Amino acid sequence: MQWNFQEIQSQAKAEADLINDPLTLEDFRQKYLGKKGLVAAVFASLGQAAPTVKAAIGKGANDLRAFAEGLIAGKSVGTASSKATEEQIDISLPGTGESLGHTHILTQTMQEIIAVFEQMGFVSVETPEIETEFHNFTGLNIPIDHPSRDAFDTFYLDAEDPSARGRRLLLRSHTSPGQVRIMKEHKPPMAVIVPGRVYRPDAVDASHSFMFHQIEGLLVDEKVQFSELKGLLTEFCRRFFGPKVIMRFRPHFFPFTEPSAEVDINAEVLGIQRKKWLEILGCGMVNPKVFEAVGYPKGKYKGFAFGMGVERMAMLKYGINDIRLFYENDVRFLKQF
Ligand code: DAH
Repeated sequence: MQWNFQEIQSQAKAEADLINDPLTLEDFRQKYLGKKGLVAAVFASLGQAAPTVKAAIGKGANDLRAFAEGLIAGKSVGTASSKATEEQIDISLPGTGESLGHTHILTQTMQEIIAVFEQMGFVSVETPEIETEFHNFTGLNIPIDHPSRDAFDTFYLDAEDPSARGRRLLLRSHTSPGQVRIMKEHKPPMAVIVPGRVYRPDAVDASHSFMFHQIEGLLVDEKVQFSELKGLLTEFCRRFFGPKVIMRFRPHFFPFTEPSAEVDINAEVLGIQRKKWLEILGCGMVNPKVFEAVGYPKGKYKGFAFGMGVERMAMLKYGINDIRLFYENDVRFLKQF
């Protein structure tokens, strides 16, 4: 077979000049350099070639290969395989967007509880987490030898209370000291709630944490009755849990209220499989000794108070069975709310 290498090269050059897209360039490469391409055909023809022309044909094939490679390298249209790389940026795809976070489920629950009480005329006030023994205990009629004052039940700080020599500051073990602070500063009538963190040296398990949240409530006026407390909390629970909620008031003892009760929520009705009744709050009529401690005139005022656990409220409402989930910050949990 005769090969006119000059003509083949000028033909290749003319073809290459017209190429301006990667697919055509790939066709060109196949035509000259592919397994069934022209260069391969030239080499294959060597077998039948006369010994005298073999060397020339071999050289022609090699030159043609180099020439075609040079033409391909000179094209800036890219190759078919690099086209795929380029087009990984598919502008027709919607963007990935930033996903916005949201408030923590406990914050949401607190805001929801606060909103219900605000609708009923309560004002939300925050008081300090570092407290004095007076606000946390004494002012609330909790006697000096009460077990809750023990270091096993309260975190004491290595800092003396500037207002009482020899007495240490502590992390409040409940939000009730907020009552004492607010009454010391303000005269009735008042209707306040005090949301915030509280601390107790409890071992952590599915239902205990060394830090949790409470919302305290306090209403003081000249005429206040237990039936009003009952009505308020019943309406609150209906608004927070929905109308099917079933609650019970169970007599209890707290030094700062008399009489006192605890409120339990029927968990079964809310579709939660735990214990049937779950305690959510303590409440009662403000003990006259507390009014005395804050300096109110004897016998002038009556009031009621309550303190509820925020985690418990959220657990009941959303069917959460382990308090630790609130603090682990696992997004798979947090994203659900
Ligand atoms: N402070 C109580 C506790 O942490 C809860 C409580 C009970 C608050 C009765 C009150 C109340 O205001 O009247 O266990």
